[in-house]
Order: sequence, then structure tokens, then C-alpha cells
Amino acid sequence: MCLLHELLPMDMTVGCILLIVAAVCAVVQVLRFIFADADFTLLWAASFGLKPESTLRGRVVWITGASSGIGEELAYQLAQIGAQLVLSARRENELERVKRECLGRSRLHEEDILVLPLDLLDRKSHEAKTAAVFQHFGKIDVLINNGGRSQRSLCLETDVEVYEALMELNFLGTVSITKTVLPYMVKRGTGTVTSVSSVVGIAGAPLATGYSASKHALQGFFNSLRVELAEYPGITISTILPGPVQSQIVQNAFTESLHKSVWQAGDQQHKMATSRCVRLILCGLANRVKEMWIGQQPFLLFFYVWQYTPTLAWFMTGILGKKRIQNFKAGLDADSAYFTKPKAP
Ligand SMILES: NC(=O)c1ccc[n+]([C@@H]2O[C@H](COP(=O)([O-])OP(=O)(O)OC[C@H]3O[C@@H](n4cnc5c(N)ncnc54)[C@H](OP(=O)(O)O)[C@@H]3O)[C@@H](O)[C@H]2O)c1
Repeated sequence: MCLLHELLPMDMTVGCILLIVAAVCAVVQVLRFIFADADFTLLWAASFGLKPESTLRGRVVWITGASSGIGEELAYQLAQIGAQLVLSARRENELERVKRECLGRSRLHEEDILVLPLDLLDRKSHEAKTAAVFQHFGKIDVLINNGGRSQRSLCLETDVEVYEALMELNFLGTVSITKTVLPYMVKRGTGTVTSVSSVVGIAGAPLATGYSASKHALQGFFNSLRVELAEYPGITISTILPGPVQSQIVQNAFTESLHKSVWQAGDQQHKMATSRCVRLILCGLANRVKEMWIGQQPFLLFFYVWQYTPTLAWFMTGILGKKRIQNFKAGLDADSAYFTKPKAP
């Protein structure tokens, strides 16, 4: 610095210092982005914001799709925090298994966890299911719309009934549950409705035309609902957009026709650990983050590029999309070639 001062006039020295500081800041930001696994708002909330342990303890949280994957892990982490839980999905035996595991991992009692089998497609039942939750707990603080199914099929080969089923489940099923719970939250003036969308809720990906459409529909619905509820500041509407996460999502995905299963899901180990995804979700909920982008690179880059530079995104998707289809046809996980080393679960 002294050498700089001797060699350069004062204003040039200040300029140099500012340039160096700016360059260091830029390098730090680039490094942070390379190693980030969520958008910067969510990462900030996770590091410096309110902790889920202080805001979610004692809350009544209703999780749909709680029998496996992200919903199951949500149940475990929320139980450990001390939230009271309503576990819903179609498979009651799996929900009972998750409940037992929750009780084993936490200080919750039998009556703190309600197993409530629910089919998102059976919309006529949703009013009664909501009433059952109120009968048991007297309130719902947080609704996590997580239940859903993905898709692995090319548009040209897919029956239109598959598109109908994806919209019925991922979009209308979620809207239906939300509509039964929301009036109570509005009456109380407080509550959180959060919905698990996807990276393809804002981007597009081959093999997922119907899935992506259903998640785009969710984004549109909840973004509009949030504005509609602006006069209720105690109500939070948030959407969660994960990239690939370890779960049963590929095994359970829709294919070309309604009654055909995915023939080979491929290895899922390279995807983000479910526990990390769920921890970030809970941090987002604790801090009332409205939209959470969760994904390891290159998916996080994908979010930013789709949001801010769509022309570049279409170019990138054109290249990566071909690889995705090749992987799928080879029986690999569709996203596996973007990674080299498997990640620990
Ligand atoms: N894993 C990922 O890479 C990823 C990425 C982005 C977004 N997501 C989203 O994350 C959410 C959870 O998926 P996941 O990855 O955890 O997959 P998963 O392991 O397959 O879990 C899906 C859950 O949805 C439930 N479900 C399916 N159909 C249902 C129905 N008709 N009624 C009620 N529940 C139903 C399943 O339970 P039952 O079979 O017992 O009903 C299961 O509990 C989904 O909305 C998915 O779109 C996942």
C-alpha cells in the first residue's frame, strides 16, 4: 500500500484500492455462487435469520405427501423441532411407519401426530379431512402442499390422459386442499401455505412437459393468491422450487400412459440430500421467504439464467436437453450426466 502511495497520486491510489476491493468482492461472490445450493435470499435466511427451532416448535403443520421422500423428511425434522404434525398421503401403512419413526426421534407424544390418509385426487373428501384436523388440533398453522408426481415421457409419445392426471393431482389437488384450509387462516388472520413446486415451475425440461405445466400452474396460482391476500399480512404464501433431490419421485413418475410405470429409475445418489433440502425449506418457512430456489449446481445456475436471461436459457436447454433424453433412453437417471461424483444421502 505504501509503495502504491509513493508511486501514484492520491486520487489514483484511492481508485486502485476501490478496484481491488471490488475485484475481491466479485471473486468472493462467484465462489459463493459456485458452492451455493439455494438462492442467496434463502441462504441468508438460513445463516442469519430466525431458526426453525424457535418459530415452528408447537405449531400444527399439515404435510401432504408425507409417506416418502421430501414429505417424509419434513415430518422427521419438524418432529425433532417439536411441531405437531398431520401426516397425509394415500398409503396409510407408510404414514404409520413415518409416525412411529417421528415418535422415536422426538419428544412428541402419540396425540401430537395425526395420521390422516388422503387422496389429493378425491377432492370431495378434502373438506371433511380438513374438519378432521380441526377436530384433533383446533387449528392449522402451516399447510405444506407437497404431495405430487413427476413425469418421464416424451410429449409425442404421451397420452393426453397423462396430462389430465398431472394437472388433476399436482395442480387441482393442491388448489383444493388450499381452498379448504385458507378460510380458517383468513379468519384467524395468521397461517402459512407453502407448496412444493419445482425448478421446472419456472424453467422447462424435456420428458416433463405435463409435469412442468402443472408446476407452472401452481406458480401462477400462488403468486396471484399472495397478492390477493395482501390485506392479510399475517398470512404467508410461499413456493418451494427444488432441483433434483433424493426421493421416490422418479420411481413414481407418470410415463406415456396412465398404467405404465417407469421401467428403470436409475441411480438417484447424485441428487441433493433430502435432509439438506428440507433444512433449507424449514429455514425459509421460519423467515417467511416467499419463493425458495433449492438446488446444487448446475441447477442453481439454471434458476438464475431462466429468470434473468431467458434467451441464454433456451440455448443452454437445447444442449442439456438432448443429453437428458439420451440418459433417459439409456436407463440412467435423466439428470445423471450433469454430475461426476455420487453424493452421500
Ligand atoms: N425429488 C425431486 O427431485 C423433486 C424436485 C422438485 C420438486 N419435487 C416435488 O416434491 C414433492 C414431493 O416429491 P418427492 O420428491 O418427495 O417424491 P416421492 O418420494 O415420490 O413422494 C411423493 C409423495 O406424494 C404422495 N402422493 C402421490 N400421489 C398422491 C395422491 N393422489 N394423493 C395424495 N398423496 C399423493 C405420495 O404418497 P402416496 O403414494 O402414499 O399417496 C408421496 O408421499 C412433489 O410435489 C414433487 O413434485 C421433487
